[in-house]
Amino acid sequence: MNALAEDRLEFDPVRIDALPLYNQDFDGDYPAAGVALKAQVRAADAVLFVTPEYNRSVPGVLKNAIDLASRPYGDSAFAGLPAAVTGASVGSIGTALAQQHLRNILSYLDMAVMPQPEAYIHFKDGLVDADGRITKQDTREFLEDFVDRFVEWIDRQRS
Ligand SMILES: Cc1cc2nc3c(=O)[nH]c(=O)nc-3n(C[C@H](O)[C@H](O)[C@H](O)COP(=O)(O)O)c2cc1C
Repeated sequence: MNALAEDRLEFDPVRIDALPLYNQDFDGDYPAAGVALKAQVRAADAVLFVTPEYNRSVPGVLKNAIDLASRPYGDSAFAGLPAAVTGASVGSIGTALAQQHLRNILSYLDMAVMPQPEAYIHFKDGLVDADGRITKQDTREFLEDFVDRFVEWIDRQRS
């Protein structure tokens, strides 16, 4: 996505693999990693969610990150932010069900989720080269359009 967006978007990837597992006891004294995560989300103009699919849903590690950034109740970092979802899987449905679950969650969290285009990426060996560039022209063009539409969506939501 970074290569596709060139100078139109600047990405600040969120690291979610070492976050503490959210539980409601955090709400009285939020862990530093949760505070930092929320600050990173709040500093952004929009959030792009990119997910694999685990057992027809989002991976637990992504759900945990969303839970952590959305609490305590009433102090979510996500409310009102524009968002888009996409994902890649070796499975032929290309994360369709994970993305649908994700849309449910993000709608509840009051994010403005880009409705179209949807991007369900069926990942095969060689689709992305060593420099992170997409090798298949029609996939690259499709995702360039996805990025164009996301830039427009962000501008529209923020104007
Ligand atoms: C526990 C587990 C469950 C998975 N379930 C699904 C699934 O339901 N549907 C699907 O298309 N892919 C499924 N996959 C494949 C992943 O979406 C993904 O393609 C694979 O883990 C490679 O991801 P990577 O980008 O981290 O290399 C599953 C993978 C794992 C490890």
